[in-house]
Amino acid sequence: MSGKAGGVRRRLASTGVQPRFMALIENWGERPYNHVMKAGQAIGRYEIIKEIGRGGMAVVYLALDPYMQRQVAIKVLPRQFTFESQFRERFMREAQMIAALEHPAIVPVYDFGEHDDQPFLVMRYMAGGSLRQRLNGSLPFAQTEQILQRLAPALDRAHQRGIIHRDLKPENVLFDEEDRAYLSDFGIARMAEATQTMTIVGTPAYMSPEQVQGDQKLDGRSDLYALGVVLFELLTGQPPYTAPTPTKLMLKHILEPVPEICTINPGLPQVYEGFVQQVMAKERGERFATGAALAAAFTQLAAAPTIPAAGTTAVPDQTIVEPPAFMDRPTIVDEDLPPLRLC
Ligand SMILES: Nc1ncnc2c1ncn2[C@@H]1O[C@H](COP(=O)(O)OP(=O)(O)O)[C@@H](O)[C@H]1O
Ligand SMILES: [Mg+2]
Repeated sequence: MSGKAGGVRRRLASTGVQPRFMALIENWGERPYNHVMKAGQAIGRYEIIKEIGRGGMAVVYLALDPYMQRQVAIKVLPRQFTFESQFRERFMREAQMIAALEHPAIVPVYDFGEHDDQPFLVMRYMAGGSLRQRLNGSLPFAQTEQILQRLAPALDRAHQRGIIHRDLKPENVLFDEEDRAYLSDFGIARMAEATQTMTIVGTPAYMSPEQVQGDQKLDGRSDLYALGVVLFELLTGQPPYTAPTPTKLMLKHILEPVPEICTINPGLPQVYEGFVQQVMAKERGERFATGAALAAAFTQLAAAPTIPAAGTTAVPDQTIVEPPAFMDRPTIVDEDLPPLRLC
């Protein structure tokens, strides 16, 4: 091991990151795709139309289900997921659990199977693409709130059943043709973790401090942290942490304070500062306990009045205030509420 890698290891060790986990992190970036399929080929009964995308460990195809005569998305996972009987059992158990997770804001899994020893999951094709594809700077405020109002209860439903997403990020928020947001890829990171030979167990930019530390007893608050990172990105147009390597990026979740959103986007109402600090709190006990509580707090802040930054003219009561640049609707100032400051 080079001196540099050794230094990173020592630093990781001092933050409580598990050795096994370190090995996984250091191999990050290797893409364990097996063979890639082409249009016209079949996976099980499904006919491939085209490749839609590639992520950390899978290739996703648009395909036709000839029985149902509908388009589906097929996620082909690496052979490692099933190549030993204990992984195969685990894969099946996890797939059944994900398939049973029914919620109006969770991408439904229709089927799963194996083709040429490669496991695959069949799910609803989401024609509206991903949140990543829609993120071009910060997102209009009303849209952020709409997405949050759909995703928060979906997360709560999964958490109540003991299912933690573990890989929540803009790539895993998909939209239907009517622009409704859905969560995809529940449990996939856990399947990967179970194989131990896999290299990716989460996405460094969105991993909670406890996930980085290899906590074996993650709970829903870990997903709520990741949702907080997504919110940070939606509000400011940039992720809270960046680093040249995944390991350094993961360390920042543990060691670096949450950046002040107002420094990045001075048009944001100051109250969001405290909110973001809470959703991304290093200690999970300081975060919101449920998605519903988080979403309700966000909506409450959205309804709060705003006044321009210190030094500018005060806003009279009961007037409609010009929205800051990120908002796409006016905010009505309510007499009973104290006016809030912009950053
Ligand atoms: N059900 C789906 N419908 C439409 N597109 C999808 C679906 N699932 C995944 N995709 C697309 O395929 C890409 C790769 O997916 P995935 O393997 O889950 O990796 P990641 O989520 O890390 O990007 C996603 O970013 C998304 O754009
Ligand atoms: Mg995905």
